[in-house]
Amino acid sequence: MDKLIERITVDHEHILKLLQAVDYEIKGYDSDSDRMPRLIIIMDALDYLQNYPDSFHHPLESQLLERLKPRVTDSELLQTMAEIDQEHDRIKALTIELVEIVKAISEDHPVPVKKLINSYEDYVSLQKSHILKENRVMIPAMKTYLTTKDLELAQQELLGSSDPLFGHKLRESYEGLYQYLLETNVRQEAVV
Ligand SMILES: [Fe+2]
Ligand SMILES: [Fe+2]
Repeated sequence: MDKLIERITVDHEHILKLLQAVDYEIKGYDSDSDRMPRLIIIMDALDYLQNYPDSFHHPLESQLLERLKPRVTDSELLQTMAEIDQEHDRIKALTIELVEIVKAISEDHPVPVKKLINSYEDYVSLQKSHILKENRVMIPAMKTYLTTKDLELAQQELLGSSDPLFGHKLRESYEGLYQYLLETNVRQEAVV
């Protein structure tokens, strides 16, 4: 598989892994939960999800979608591609909203738990359906229609950006989150 398309697929796995971690911690806010949510994990995961996809993943996808457009004639596929591109803006807006709520909680402002849960549910359901749609429709279309030249041009512009959490150099501020993901992986494996 081409490196760029492979990177999009791997990014999706990473995003889903982080959403799973946030899911677990957010459930700690349920009234019947017997454990304390770890707000720092939620904040760091959202920080990554806000910064890395917006600076690299979504621009890469949008750029490749632009290159795909003139090669596609199927109107249904073109419609889905347009939806995917629009969803990047919607995800960005929902992320900002959720991050603001989490920040307010971290600063001890009174925030109804329901507000947090509703905002998170809107955000996570769009993130998940978006990734599913991309994996089901966008990735196969990219593999079918993009030329080597298209991918080379996109690669020159974007491949230099490294992933600050899952890439070769871990950003210092993500050390706690990285360790958490390793430990939860161990826990999951131990359970299985
Ligand atoms: Fe996307
Ligand atoms: Fe994506």
